[in-house]
Amino acid sequence: MQAAAVALVPAAGRGERLGSRGPKALVPVHGVPLVVHAVRGLLNAGCVRRVVVAAPLSHVDTMASVLAGAGAAALVVPGGADRTESVRLALAAALGESPDISIVLVHDAARAFTPPELISAVTDAVAAGAPAVVPVLPVADTVKRVDEKEIVTETVDRADLRAVQTPQGFALDVLRRAYAAADSHTDDAGLVERIGVPVSTVPGHPAAMKITTPFDLAVAEAVFAR
Ligand code: CTP
Ligand code: MG
Repeated sequence: MQAAAVALVPAAGRGERLGSRGPKALVPVHGVPLVVHAVRGLLNAGCVRRVVVAAPLSHVDTMASVLAGAGAAALVVPGGADRTESVRLALAAALGESPDISIVLVHDAARAFTPPELISAVTDAVAAGAPAVVPVLPVADTVKRVDEKEIVTETVDRADLRAVQTPQGFALDVLRRAYAAADSHTDDAGLVERIGVPVSTVPGHPAAMKITTPFDLAVAEAVFAR
């Protein structure tokens, strides 16, 4: 039997870099809001049995009705002032609803076109015993360090650098402990590293790109099927 996970979807950001008028998660691609694409992708993977979305405080009802109207079953809860707080609130709601969870995925609404196969691969790796798993890609660009005047001080060897995507997958107890100890803001796996738990990787996918800027939105409209 395929492993079953609960997915937390932080979708409470404002989308400042996108410059959208409302929340980024409600911006449409092919007429469908990003959060609907993201939740559908999770449900299509076959390994996600429940989705909890953290929405902007001002848009909880809107997001709930948009998802329900699209037939994308999810519990929508108010998110927080930063992503860490949004995930914390979604995790608390998920635990309240399904205390028997053992695998938790955390997946950005902004990575709306993540292939279901990648979602399954992360879930399977946690089910196989990894306490924490992140999808990664090699870094394509040359990377340099600069000083405060933007003068290059170093060319960083990128051989052992990876760009990290979502979903990030965790054994429930590990994510819970990481969030109980969280005192600053990094990605979910970063919080897990801080409690001394190893984080493993699976190959990421270009389609799991994060929609951050208007350019990314144009790429998504052009590349992903209707
Ligand atoms: N997020 C969240 N709660 C916040 C901030 C961000 O749930 N308080 C979510 C976003 O909705 C997004 C994911 O975290 O799905 C990744 O964040 P990012 O891409 O930075 O989105 P925004 O914060 O909305 O964008 P920006 O930083 O440009 O304002
Ligand atoms: Mg942000």
